[in-house]
Amino acid sequence: MKLPFCLALLFHLIHASHNVTQKIIAAAEADNIDLFTLSFAAEALASIQAIYDVEHIDIPSALANATRVDTHAHVVPPWYQALVPFTGQVPTPDWTLEDHFGFMANNSIGHSVISISAPGSVVYPGSETQSTALARLLNEYLVALVRKVPAHFSFFAVTPLPYTASAITEVRYALGHLGAAGVGLLSNHEGYYLGNSVLKPFFAQLDARNSRKEVVFVHPNGPCMHAANGTLIDANPTVYPEGLVEYYFETTRTFMDLTISQTIINFTSLNWIVPHAGGAFPSVEDRFIDSQPAGVIAASKAAYSTRYAFIWNCGRQS
Ligand SMILES: *[C@@H]1O[C@H](CO)[C@@H](O)[C@H](O)[C@H]1NC(C)=O
Ligand SMILES: *[C@@H]1O[C@H](CO)[C@@H](O)[C@H](O)[C@H]1NC(C)=O
Ligand SMILES: *[C@@H]1O[C@H](CO)[C@@H](O)[C@H](O)[C@H]1NC(C)=O
Ligand SMILES: *[C@@H]1O[C@H](CO)[C@@H](O)[C@H](O)[C@H]1NC(C)=O
Ligand SMILES: *[C@@H]1O[C@H](CO)[C@@H](O)[C@H](O)[C@H]1NC(C)=O
Repeated sequence: MKLPFCLALLFHLIHASHNVTQKIIAAAEADNIDLFTLSFAAEALASIQAIYDVEHIDIPSALANATRVDTHAHVVPPWYQALVPFTGQVPTPDWTLEDHFGFMANNSIGHSVISISAPGSVVYPGSETQSTALARLLNEYLVALVRKVPAHFSFFAVTPLPYTASAITEVRYALGHLGAAGVGLLSNHEGYYLGNSVLKPFFAQLDARNSRKEVVFVHPNGPCMHAANGTLIDANPTVYPEGLVEYYFETTRTFMDLTISQTIINFTSLNWIVPHAGGAFPSVEDRFIDSQPAGVIAASKAAYSTRYAFIWNCGRQS
């Protein structure tokens, strides 16, 4: 190689190593993810780059002594709010870092495990390509915030289920490489509730990581079902917004499914966080579980008391 060429290459490499956008694109390509399948990818990448480029972030002094940990704290990137103007049929709230810190300061929260609310990456039913690209952009956005203020933030990774192979790849990247605190799941992904056998390879793989106890945060999603012809249809049976009345039952439905399918007793390294105080689950658990074999009842109850946390809703966002 000629010297000028070497220097140019070296310069390029040094330059590229500081260019977060290029790194993100390259990491996605390495996992066969085409971010540009999404029309807003450039805007999303610019917003992520902007987080890294901020020189100084004002952190309220009250956070220094705050001791609470909030595991239910949503972040809303501007391009995501444009893509998803409603969450649970309620307008998706505005979000700014400044407000988030203000909320933490006001509520003695020293650390937030940030995540994306419903519908997560379930925005393109039937499209694995787009769902996977969206999950990756959201995870890059979340980790950018975490890297900026690691003392106060960690994150739950968006997982592009029901596409199990892509979701496993995303877990490997987000937990293994980006250092996510756990995975964020929804009560159903394109109509598949979490005990569905379609999702079993994902839980098996997460369980088998065995590098540590894996944390699974499960947020309710709008109820969905597959029509006889396979089409995904909205299944909200009332005239009320899903976020107001359905979410409590969604959580319940999916944890019943996880129990009856024996997902929770078979995969023993998974630790579950159930927001909204478990929805309606704690009050119906005793009754539905009666129909199960004695061994399943005993093992499930043991799991509820050791590997489950039913948490009160700390956040102002659903
Ligand atoms: C970083 O890389 C992206 C994508 O190649 C490019 O559009 C952008 O101009 C680069 N930024 C800088 C500061 O070099
Ligand atoms: C935090 O606690 C320390 C030690 O108790 C105290 O000196 C300091 O003033 C507190 N800071 C704030 C912002 O409350
Ligand atoms: C925090 O509390 C102050 C004083 O009550 C209030 O003005 C402010 O709006 C609150 N901030 C947030 C983000 O809740
Ligand atoms: C499938 O069934 C649903 C619900 O009955 C209906 O709304 C939809 O139009 C059907 N789709 C096709 C492609 O037949
Ligand atoms: C859990 O194990 C039981 C007993 O081996 C089996 O019947 C069931 O299908 C398994 N369920 C899952 C989700 O692995």
